[in-house]
This record gives sequence, structure tokens and C-alpha cells, in this order.
Amino acid sequence: MPAKVTIANNGPIRIEGEFTIHDAEGNMFTFPGRTRISLCRCGLSENKPFCDGKHKTGFQSACPARELPPPPPNPTT
Ligand code: FES
Repeated sequence: MPAKVTIANNGPIRIEGEFTIHDAEGNMFTFPGRTRISLCRCGLSENKPFCDGKHKTGFQSACPARELPPPPPNPTT
């Protein structure tokens, strides 16, 4: 199943399906036994990049689905 990413209202970014997560050096995070993962979107987690529930202290953000405009032209291509 391809990855499905859900932006939770007032909460994390949830990812389920087939995906991998890597750090800036390309090392892969492992999370055996989990079929979905939540990434912190509020900045308060003490277990970044993963959500630890701290968003429940008052983080508010709703992001309804919408279409992004095309990227600006790249002057180098
Ligand atoms: S989104 Fe849950 S701790 Fe940040």
C-alpha cells in the first residue's frame, strides 16, 4: 500500500502504508511493529521527529486540503 499522509487538525502528521523515514545523513529510522507513525508538527515533542502527545497542550492548526500552485520556473534549467 502506498504511503498515506494525513495532517491531523491540531495534531501530528500521520503516515501509514509503505514508507521509510531517514535522518539528514540518510540513516533510516526503524519502528518495528508499527504500521503507522505520527510526526510532530507542533514543535513541542521531546521525541522529535515523532509526536509524543505534547500538542494536546494547546497547539492549534487546521490545514484543509487544497491545491498548491505550480513551482516557480528554475532559472538554471
Ligand atoms: S504534534 Fe504531537 S507532540 Fe507535536
